[in-house]
Amino acid sequence: MKTNVSFSTPAEVETECLVAIVLDKGEKSHGEQDKPQLSPQLSIETSDTTVKEAAADVISGGEVTGKTFEATLLYHPAKLKAKRLLLLGGGKASTFSAFDLRRLAGAAVRQLKSRGLRSFAFLAPEAGLKGEDAVKAIVEGAFVGNFDPDYYKSDRKDQKIDALTVVTRGDQAKLQQAIDEARIIGESQNFTRDLVNEPSNRMTPTILADRAKKMAAEVGLKCEVYGADKIKELKMGAFWSVAQGSDEPPALIVLRYEPAGAPEKPVLGLVGKGVTFDTGGISIKPADGMEKMKYDMAGGATMIGAMRAIALLKPKVKITAVICATENMPSGKAQKPGDVQIAMSGKSIEIINTDAEGRLVLADGLYYARQLGCTHLIDAATLTGAVVVALGSVNAGIFGNDEQMFEQFSKALSKAGEKMWRMPLDDEYKEIIRSNIADIVNSGGRYGGAITAAMFLKEFAEDVPWLHLDIAGTAWTEEQKPWIAKGPSGIALRSLVEFAREFAG
Ligand code: BES
Ligand code: MN
Ligand code: ZN
Repeated sequence: MKTNVSFSTPAEVETECLVAIVLDKGEKSHGEQDKPQLSPQLSIETSDTTVKEAAADVISGGEVTGKTFEATLLYHPAKLKAKRLLLLGGGKASTFSAFDLRRLAGAAVRQLKSRGLRSFAFLAPEAGLKGEDAVKAIVEGAFVGNFDPDYYKSDRKDQKIDALTVVTRGDQAKLQQAIDEARIIGESQNFTRDLVNEPSNRMTPTILADRAKKMAAEVGLKCEVYGADKIKELKMGAFWSVAQGSDEPPALIVLRYEPAGAPEKPVLGLVGKGVTFDTGGISIKPADGMEKMKYDMAGGATMIGAMRAIALLKPKVKITAVICATENMPSGKAQKPGDVQIAMSGKSIEIINTDAEGRLVLADGLYYARQLGCTHLIDAATLTGAVVVALGSVNAGIFGNDEQMFEQFSKALSKAGEKMWRMPLDDEYKEIIRSNIADIVNSGGRYGGAITAAMFLKEFAEDVPWLHLDIAGTAWTEEQKPWIAKGPSGIALRSLVEFAREFAG
């Protein structure tokens, strides 16, 4: 999707469709019986009176309420150069934010492309938000909306918006920069979603590594890919214990971003779970819903996509990504419950459940990232069903051992318009993962399952400042929403990229 900014008067913009946001500025007033009554006072988010007049009739007629995602399409709007005017409800003006704007832009894209339109212009709201922030939210949201997963349908229409114009006012250079950066982030998020969308027969560890290599060559990143021999040579006993059960070779993918002029330290490490299919192994999962386990490499794909955006945005800081890619399969070579494995760090692990494989591959991924010189770590993984029980699909789980890093990430989250909820890591939880015969077990059972999984990872981050993102409930959108298709969401990528830029100082 091409993106550009326009500084024209909204009424003068020649486009297939001009999209304007309608907000409700009304406040709750008390009626005679002291019943709260809503009096919507609708405002179209533009100072262009011609646009306001074009919409005046349909607004005064009461057909428009301003409710979020309410769409009213007008043809041949009076005195506008645009062929259509789409009035898009944005809810209450008092609470309207960049978060809402992202979703509205996604909804506009989905509405209009389903009607066969290929281009449109979006009027950036003028009240409340800074111009650059509005442009950024609109473009990022539009990319989210433009993705559809129906890749293998033989009658795929591949209806996409090809060109988006954001109509805005302000500092031209700053707005142009905002739109370019947002496009990089939006494209990278969809790159990740493409990887996650592929079924496991078309996204093996080898294919994932090839896609990472190809991307790295395009954007100028260093990429190394190691196979089983190197994994064994490095004594990655935890990673290998998962990989040993599959006929499909594993891949240890390392991407390095080392810009000229960046200080030696700090080095940010991004570690991703790249399980391209999780059957559960010998502790096999039920057949019902197992097909979803093709998205168990979403954490790894997120790190690969984040590195793409980072390479193009060029923050002045070193960043290394480590992706542990493997299948988790039952076979005659697969590990069994009760087996003891020695991780790269030297810690011994008693395998209670072979389905708790994510933490095994990440244990060695985190430790290896430290060995490569990373001073700060963030991992992303579809790690536990328990985080889905705890937080559903609204928030991802975030865990950490460092307050400052958590605070910094929280800022990145709000900049990126993503939601994560912090979960605890008290020392008491450590008791749940004690083993009788080894240092730790790989499964603490059902209670507090997302937390005990994070406690397991903490054993390998040790004293290095570290954040863990459990995206099991958020990496795949189970039902389509006005702003996003059903399928891979690309969650966490935008926050990781914002964090990396903050981290560069
Ligand atoms: N990949 C799963 C977690 C998952 C669940 C991802 C649902 C996406 C949606 C992970 O490897 C797993 O199987 N976890 C087990 C851990 C248990 C055996 C301790 C789980 O959550 O049931
Ligand atoms: Mn599993
Ligand atoms: Zn898994």
